[in-house]
Amino acid sequence: MTTAYDRAMASLLDLTTQGDVGTITDESQLPSIHLMDPQQLYELWERQHWMSAAIDFTRDRADWARIPEGARRQLAWNLSGFFIGEERVTTQFGGLVGAYENQSEEAFLCSQQVDEARHAQLFNRFFAEVVGVDGDFEERLAWARAQLSAPFEVLFDRELTAANRRLLDDPADLEAKVEYVTVYMMVIEGTLALTGQHLLTSHLEREGLLPGFLEGFRHVARDEHRHVAYGTWFLQQKCADAHLRRVARDKLAALLPLASQVLVPPGTDREREGFLGYTNAQADDFAYTALSRRLRVVGIDLGPQIGP
Ligand SMILES: [Fe+2]
Ligand SMILES: [Fe+2]
Repeated sequence: MTTAYDRAMASLLDLTTQGDVGTITDESQLPSIHLMDPQQLYELWERQHWMSAAIDFTRDRADWARIPEGARRQLAWNLSGFFIGEERVTTQFGGLVGAYENQSEEAFLCSQQVDEARHAQLFNRFFAEVVGVDGDFEERLAWARAQLSAPFEVLFDRELTAANRRLLDDPADLEAKVEYVTVYMMVIEGTLALTGQHLLTSHLEREGLLPGFLEGFRHVARDEHRHVAYGTWFLQQKCADAHLRRVARDKLAALLPLASQVLVPPGTDREREGFLGYTNAQADDFAYTALSRRLRVVGIDLGPQIGP
Protein backbone atom coordinates (compact mmCIF):
# COMPACT_ATOMS: atom_id res chain seq x y z
CA MET A 1 0.00 0.00 0.00
CA THR A 2 1.34 3.45 -0.86
CA THR A 3 1.04 5.90 2.03
CA ALA A 4 0.98 9.70 1.95
CA TYR A 5 4.49 9.58 3.39
CA ASP A 6 5.69 7.40 0.49
CA ARG A 7 4.12 9.83 -1.98
CA ALA A 8 5.82 12.83 -0.33
CA MET A 9 9.17 11.02 -0.56
CA ALA A 10 8.57 10.08 -4.20
CA SER A 11 7.80 13.65 -5.15
CA LEU A 12 10.92 14.99 -3.41
CA LEU A 13 13.02 12.41 -5.29
CA ASP A 14 11.33 13.58 -8.52
CA LEU A 15 12.15 17.21 -7.79
CA THR A 16 15.70 16.76 -6.49
CA THR A 17 18.78 14.52 -6.71
CA GLN A 18 18.63 12.21 -3.68
CA GLY A 19 16.38 14.53 -1.67
CA ASP A 20 19.04 17.29 -1.73
CA VAL A 21 17.09 20.55 -2.06
CA GLY A 22 20.25 22.24 -3.41
CA THR A 23 19.35 20.55 -6.72
CA ILE A 24 15.64 21.41 -6.76
CA THR A 25 14.23 22.07 -10.23
CA ASP A 26 11.35 24.28 -9.05
CA GLU A 27 12.33 26.81 -6.37
CA SER A 28 8.71 27.80 -5.71
CA GLN A 29 8.28 24.39 -4.02
CA LEU A 30 10.99 25.10 -1.41
CA PRO A 31 8.70 26.51 1.32
CA SER A 32 6.47 23.39 1.30
CA ILE A 33 9.21 20.74 1.02
CA HIS A 34 9.08 17.82 3.46
CA LEU A 35 12.68 16.59 3.83
CA MET A 36 13.60 12.91 3.90
CA ASP A 37 14.55 11.70 7.37
CA PRO A 38 17.52 9.42 8.25
CA GLN A 39 15.42 6.22 8.03
CA GLN A 40 14.28 7.09 4.50
CA LEU A 41 17.83 8.10 3.50
CA TYR A 42 19.20 4.83 4.91
CA GLU A 43 16.63 2.85 2.89
CA LEU A 44 17.61 4.82 -0.21
CA TRP A 45 21.26 3.88 0.46
CA GLU A 46 20.37 0.16 0.61
CA ARG A 47 19.02 0.41 -2.94
CA GLN A 48 22.13 2.14 -4.34
CA HIS A 49 25.17 -0.07 -3.81
CA TRP A 50 28.08 0.00 -6.25
CA MET A 51 31.60 -1.45 -6.37
CA SER A 52 34.69 0.73 -6.67
CA ALA A 53 36.69 -2.38 -7.67
CA ALA A 54 34.40 -3.06 -10.65
CA ILE A 55 35.19 0.18 -12.53
CA ASP A 56 37.12 -0.43 -15.76
CA PHE A 57 40.03 2.03 -16.14
CA THR A 58 41.38 0.64 -19.45
CA ARG A 59 40.31 3.64 -21.58
CA ASP A 60 41.28 6.04 -18.78
CA ARG A 61 44.92 4.86 -18.87
CA ALA A 62 45.13 5.56 -22.60
CA ASP A 63 43.39 8.94 -22.17
CA TRP A 64 45.70 9.99 -19.32
CA ALA A 65 48.79 9.36 -21.45
CA ARG A 66 47.54 11.64 -24.25
CA ILE A 67 46.39 14.58 -22.10
CA PRO A 68 48.90 17.47 -22.57
CA GLU A 69 51.34 17.93 -19.68
CA GLY A 70 49.90 21.23 -18.32
CA ALA A 71 46.31 19.98 -18.34
CA ARG A 72 47.38 16.71 -16.77
CA ARG A 73 49.09 18.59 -13.93
CA GLN A 74 45.97 20.65 -13.26
CA LEU A 75 43.79 17.53 -13.32
CA ALA A 76 46.17 15.72 -10.94
CA TRP A 77 45.96 18.70 -8.56
CA ASN A 78 42.17 18.66 -8.69
CA LEU A 79 41.92 14.90 -8.22
CA SER A 80 44.40 15.02 -5.32
CA GLY A 81 42.00 17.33 -3.46
CA PHE A 82 39.22 14.79 -3.87
CA PHE A 83 41.48 11.87 -2.89
CA ILE A 84 42.69 13.52 0.34
CA GLY A 85 39.21 14.95 0.97
CA GLU A 86 37.64 11.47 0.86
CA GLU A 87 40.31 10.13 3.22
CA ARG A 88 39.69 12.99 5.66
CA VAL A 89 35.90 12.71 5.65
CA THR A 90 36.20 8.95 6.28
CA THR A 91 38.66 9.07 9.17
CA GLN A 92 37.26 12.25 10.75
CA PHE A 93 33.67 10.98 10.88
CA GLY A 94 33.67 8.84 14.04
CA GLY A 95 32.56 11.72 16.25
CA LEU A 96 29.30 12.17 14.35
CA VAL A 97 28.53 8.43 14.29
CA GLY A 98 28.95 8.37 18.08
CA ALA A 99 26.61 11.36 18.43
CA TYR A 100 23.55 9.55 16.96
CA GLU A 101 20.25 10.30 18.66
CA ASN A 102 18.27 7.23 17.56
CA GLN A 103 18.76 3.96 15.66
CA SER A 104 17.66 5.37 12.29
CA GLU A 105 20.22 8.15 12.50
CA GLU A 106 22.91 5.69 13.60
CA ALA A 107 22.11 3.42 10.61
CA PHE A 108 22.27 6.31 8.17
CA LEU A 109 25.55 7.65 9.61
CA CYS A 110 27.16 4.19 9.45
CA SER A 111 26.09 3.94 5.81
CA GLN A 112 27.71 7.28 5.11
CA GLN A 113 31.00 6.25 6.67
CA VAL A 114 31.05 3.17 4.39
CA ASP A 115 30.34 5.45 1.41
CA GLU A 116 33.29 7.69 2.25
CA ALA A 117 35.65 4.71 2.61
CA ARG A 118 34.45 3.45 -0.78
CA HIS A 119 35.06 6.87 -2.35
CA ALA A 120 38.63 6.87 -0.99
CA GLN A 121 39.11 3.34 -2.40
CA LEU A 122 38.00 4.54 -5.84
CA PHE A 123 40.55 7.35 -5.81
CA ASN A 124 43.29 5.07 -4.52
CA ARG A 125 42.68 2.72 -7.47
CA PHE A 126 42.61 5.63 -9.91
CA PHE A 127 45.90 7.06 -8.62
CA ALA A 128 47.54 3.60 -8.74
CA GLU A 129 46.23 2.43 -12.11
CA VAL A 130 45.74 5.63 -14.13
CA VAL A 131 47.90 8.41 -12.65
CA GLY A 132 50.61 5.79 -12.05
CA VAL A 133 51.64 6.63 -8.48
CA ASP A 134 53.59 3.62 -7.17
CA GLY A 135 53.65 2.30 -3.62
CA ASP A 136 50.83 1.57 -1.22
CA PHE A 137 47.68 3.50 -0.26
CA GLU A 138 49.57 5.63 2.30
CA GLU A 139 52.32 6.52 -0.18
CA ARG A 140 49.74 7.57 -2.76
CA LEU A 141 48.02 9.74 -0.15
CA ALA A 142 51.38 11.35 0.66
CA TRP A 143 51.92 12.03 -3.06
CA ALA A 144 48.49 13.63 -3.37
CA ARG A 145 49.01 15.67 -0.19
CA ALA A 146 52.13 17.27 -1.62
CA GLN A 147 49.93 18.87 -4.35
CA LEU A 148 47.58 20.69 -2.01
CA SER A 149 47.31 24.31 -0.98
CA ALA A 150 47.18 25.95 2.47
CA PRO A 151 43.39 26.72 2.48
CA PHE A 152 42.71 23.03 1.89
CA GLU A 153 44.81 22.04 4.91
CA VAL A 154 43.16 24.64 7.16
CA LEU A 155 39.69 23.35 6.29
CA PHE A 156 40.36 19.60 6.38
CA ASP A 157 43.21 19.26 8.88
CA ARG A 158 42.29 22.00 11.32
CA GLU A 159 38.56 22.79 11.14
CA LEU A 160 37.20 19.31 10.37
CA THR A 161 39.48 17.45 12.78
CA ALA A 162 38.76 19.97 15.59
CA ALA A 163 34.99 19.60 15.05
CA ASN A 164 35.35 15.80 15.14
CA ARG A 165 37.50 15.94 18.28
CA ARG A 166 34.88 18.09 20.06
CA LEU A 167 32.17 15.54 19.31
CA LEU A 168 34.36 12.60 20.34
CA ASP A 169 34.99 14.36 23.67
CA ASP A 170 31.27 14.89 24.27
CA PRO A 171 28.82 13.15 21.90
CA ALA A 172 25.88 14.78 23.72
CA ASP A 173 27.12 18.33 22.94
CA LEU A 174 24.44 19.54 20.52
CA GLU A 175 26.29 22.77 19.72
CA ALA A 176 29.34 20.70 18.70
CA LYS A 177 27.12 18.48 16.52
CA VAL A 178 25.56 21.48 14.77
CA GLU A 179 29.04 22.90 14.12
CA TYR A 180 30.28 19.57 12.81
CA VAL A 181 27.36 19.08 10.40
CA THR A 182 27.77 22.69 9.21
CA VAL A 183 31.48 22.22 8.46
CA TYR A 184 31.10 18.74 6.97
CA MET A 185 27.76 18.61 5.13
CA MET A 186 27.15 22.29 4.31
CA VAL A 187 30.69 23.54 3.59
CA ILE A 188 32.85 20.54 2.62
CA GLU A 189 30.30 18.34 0.87
CA GLY A 190 27.59 20.78 -0.19
CA THR A 191 29.66 23.80 -1.17
CA LEU A 192 33.06 22.38 -2.12
CA ALA A 193 32.79 18.75 -3.19
CA LEU A 194 29.56 18.99 -5.17
CA THR A 195 30.74 22.15 -6.95
CA GLY A 196 34.10 20.56 -7.78
CA GLN A 197 32.31 17.44 -8.95
CA HIS A 198 29.96 19.40 -11.17
CA LEU A 199 32.83 21.33 -12.81
CA LEU A 200 35.06 18.29 -13.27
CA THR A 201 32.27 16.05 -14.57
CA SER A 202 31.13 18.66 -17.10
CA HIS A 203 34.75 19.19 -18.23
CA LEU A 204 35.46 15.47 -18.72
CA GLU A 205 32.13 14.93 -20.51
CA ARG A 206 32.87 17.85 -22.85
CA GLU A 207 36.37 16.57 -23.59
CA GLY A 208 35.25 12.92 -23.86
CA LEU A 209 37.90 11.84 -21.31
CA LEU A 210 38.26 9.24 -18.52
CA PRO A 211 34.99 7.25 -18.91
CA GLY A 212 35.80 4.83 -16.07
CA PHE A 213 36.54 7.62 -13.67
CA LEU A 214 33.34 9.42 -14.72
CA GLU A 215 31.29 6.29 -14.02
CA GLY A 216 32.73 6.06 -10.50
CA PHE A 217 32.47 9.80 -9.93
CA ARG A 218 28.74 9.80 -10.78
CA HIS A 219 28.22 7.18 -8.06
CA VAL A 220 30.23 9.38 -5.67
CA ALA A 221 28.12 12.46 -6.51
CA ARG A 222 24.88 10.52 -5.96
CA ASP A 223 26.14 9.45 -2.53
CA GLU A 224 27.23 13.02 -1.68
CA HIS A 225 23.77 14.43 -2.45
CA ARG A 226 22.31 11.83 -0.06
CA HIS A 227 24.80 12.92 2.63
CA VAL A 228 23.97 16.59 2.14
CA ALA A 229 20.25 15.72 2.32
CA TYR A 230 20.92 14.30 5.82
CA GLY A 231 22.84 17.44 6.84
CA THR A 232 20.00 19.67 5.65
CA TRP A 233 17.44 17.57 7.54
CA PHE A 234 19.56 17.64 10.72
CA LEU A 235 20.10 21.41 10.64
CA GLN A 236 16.42 22.05 9.90
CA GLN A 237 15.55 20.10 13.06
CA LYS A 238 18.10 21.80 15.30
CA CYS A 239 18.05 25.33 13.88
CA ALA A 240 14.48 25.83 15.02
CA ASP A 241 16.39 26.85 18.18
CA ALA A 242 17.68 30.43 17.82
CA HIS A 243 20.98 29.77 19.60
CA LEU A 244 21.83 26.71 17.46
CA ARG A 245 20.78 28.62 14.34
CA ARG A 246 23.30 31.32 15.27
CA VAL A 247 26.01 28.67 15.84
CA ALA A 248 25.47 27.27 12.33
CA ARG A 249 25.29 30.72 10.76
CA ASP A 250 28.50 31.92 12.47
CA LYS A 251 30.37 28.80 11.36
CA LEU A 252 29.25 29.32 7.77
CA ALA A 253 30.25 32.99 7.88
CA ALA A 254 33.69 32.03 9.18
CA LEU A 255 34.37 29.22 6.69
CA LEU A 256 32.78 30.21 3.37
CA PRO A 257 35.54 32.70 2.42
CA LEU A 258 38.13 29.99 3.13
CA ALA A 259 36.14 27.37 1.19
CA SER A 260 36.04 29.56 -1.91
CA GLN A 261 39.88 29.53 -1.93
CA VAL A 262 40.14 25.74 -1.86
CA LEU A 263 39.09 25.19 -5.50
CA VAL A 264 41.67 27.69 -6.81
CA PRO A 265 44.87 25.99 -8.06
CA PRO A 266 48.03 27.22 -6.24
CA GLY A 267 49.92 29.94 -8.06
CA THR A 268 46.92 31.20 -10.04
CA ASP A 269 45.20 34.56 -9.81
CA ARG A 270 41.78 33.96 -8.31
CA GLU A 271 40.25 37.10 -9.81
CA ARG A 272 41.34 36.49 -13.39
CA GLU A 273 41.96 32.83 -14.07
CA GLY A 274 39.30 30.17 -14.35
CA PHE A 275 39.50 26.44 -13.90
CA LEU A 276 38.43 23.60 -16.21
CA GLY A 277 36.81 26.10 -18.57
CA TYR A 278 34.85 27.90 -15.84
CA THR A 279 35.54 31.28 -14.27
CA ASN A 280 35.79 31.47 -10.50
CA ALA A 281 32.64 33.62 -10.50
CA GLN A 282 30.72 30.82 -12.23
CA ALA A 283 32.03 28.28 -9.70
CA ASP A 284 31.03 30.52 -6.77
CA ASP A 285 27.63 31.13 -8.31
CA PHE A 286 26.94 27.39 -8.66
CA ALA A 287 28.06 26.77 -5.05
CA TYR A 288 26.04 29.62 -3.52
CA THR A 289 22.87 28.87 -5.46
CA ALA A 290 22.77 25.32 -4.07
CA LEU A 291 23.82 26.43 -0.57
CA SER A 292 21.23 29.19 -0.37
CA ARG A 293 18.43 26.76 -1.34
CA ARG A 294 19.47 24.42 1.47
CA LEU A 295 19.76 27.27 3.97
CA ARG A 296 16.33 28.56 3.02
CA VAL A 297 14.84 25.22 4.01
CA VAL A 298 16.94 25.15 7.20
CA GLY A 299 15.86 28.70 8.07
CA ILE A 300 19.26 30.43 8.00
CA ASP A 301 19.70 33.81 6.37
CA LEU A 302 23.36 34.46 5.58
CA GLY A 303 22.83 38.10 4.68
CA PRO A 304 24.28 39.94 1.68
CA GLN A 305 27.83 40.35 3.04
CA ILE A 306 28.59 36.63 2.87
CA GLY A 307 27.29 35.82 -0.61
CA PRO A 308 29.48 35.58 -3.74
FE1 LIG B 1 32.72 11.18 -0.28
FE1 LIG C 1 30.08 12.45 1.59
